[in-house]
Amino acid sequence: MDYPKIYIKKNKEKALKNRHSWIFSGAIATKSKMNEGDIVEIRKSNGQLAAYAFFVNGQSIVAKIFEHTDKPLILDKNYWKNKIFKAAQLRKLLKNTTAFRLIFAEGDFFPGLIIDVYNQIAVVQTYHLGIDKIFSYITEALDELGYKHIFVKKTPEKSQITPGWHTEPYNEQIIIIENGLKFYVDIEQGQKTGFYIDQRDNRKLIEYYAKDRTVLNLFSYTGGFSLYALRAGAKSVDSVDVSEKALELAQKNVELNGLDTSKHAVHAQNCFDFLDNMPANYYDLIVIDPPAFAKSQNTVPNAAKGYKELNLKAFRKIKSGGIIFTFSCSQRIVPELFRKIIFEAAADSGRKIRILHQLKQSIDHPINIYHPESEYLKGLVLYVE
Ligand SMILES: C[S@@+](CC[C@H](N)C(=O)[O-])C[C@H]1O[C@@H](n2cnc3c(N)ncnc32)[C@H](O)[C@@H]1O
Repeated sequence: MDYPKIYIKKNKEKALKNRHSWIFSGAIATKSKMNEGDIVEIRKSNGQLAAYAFFVNGQSIVAKIFEHTDKPLILDKNYWKNKIFKAAQLRKLLKNTTAFRLIFAEGDFFPGLIIDVYNQIAVVQTYHLGIDKIFSYITEALDELGYKHIFVKKTPEKSQITPGWHTEPYNEQIIIIENGLKFYVDIEQGQKTGFYIDQRDNRKLIEYYAKDRTVLNLFSYTGGFSLYALRAGAKSVDSVDVSEKALELAQKNVELNGLDTSKHAVHAQNCFDFLDNMPANYYDLIVIDPPAFAKSQNTVPNAAKGYKELNLKAFRKIKSGGIIFTFSCSQRIVPELFRKIIFEAAADSGRKIRILHQLKQSIDHPINIYHPESEYLKGLVLYVE
């Protein structure tokens, strides 16, 4: 098939050679006529084929590569279905969960597509018009993998894919099981696709430390870290979130697992205020898992201030010998910057602080080694003397 072509400037071929997923406007020498959402060929300045991409027509990112190759490919139904089957193959490495990310965009060489699985339900989010053209292959592959219920949560402007159910709706309450704990998941009204699947391994780690501790779970959502802490035998757990709906589910999740409800309290509050008003030397395990503060490059400085403030407040008040699980899921806050922010908060607090673990997203959010932007979740477990 004859695809429209983008030719890259000779002095801008390095990113292509390094198999990065994005083509920036400044790298383009010439291009043929193309429409947003088209599949296009990326060619070197000497005309040699280098990759296939979606033409996304952004201000800065013009095309997103889904295959680096110097050999022409037939991009038919089988190609796209195989891409999904290969991603499913990697997920066979997962243990003890009925919820996972099946497709993680660039992390699975599939820019513009996120698919999260909750039992037999696939929840799809699409981010550019290129996905429209192959959507029927995606649903076919999902059906073949056994996902009988497909729900589209999010599509970009101008997309022809309608949000909502694309199969028989699943009308029961969804309950997933993660490491033996049950969670209600609300895919339609909940945040993201319904659950923060990416924190699975980090939630499990809190079990190692939570016994007999007084736990504060800041930005708790539906109580992920809280449930693991309760199961581990925490003295008490306070879950704090601005979303009352999320906290309602957190309470229900504690009950669903037969955990001691008298040890769990929820607080519908801004976490910054909660930290200001809480007593010092009371909590000895604090989780800080805020939403992404930096959504774009120009918000990074303010986001950094936000992360620093949160962590500083926690450092000042945590009991001696306390443990802090602190995270940032802003892709723009790279791991080195996050560590620097935490270092600055630590220095200002004057406390003796050591790093016990350096954490990241779970394996169903694989980091594409050629695309560092796919590493977005960073965490540190700190010991505060
Ligand atoms: C990244 S999610 C936390 C996920 C959670 N740790 C889990 O394991 O499921 C961030 C949460 O922060 C809440 N949130 C956002 N801004 C907040 C604020 N200023 N104070 C309290 N909660 C906030 C959102 O409602 C959301 O539930």
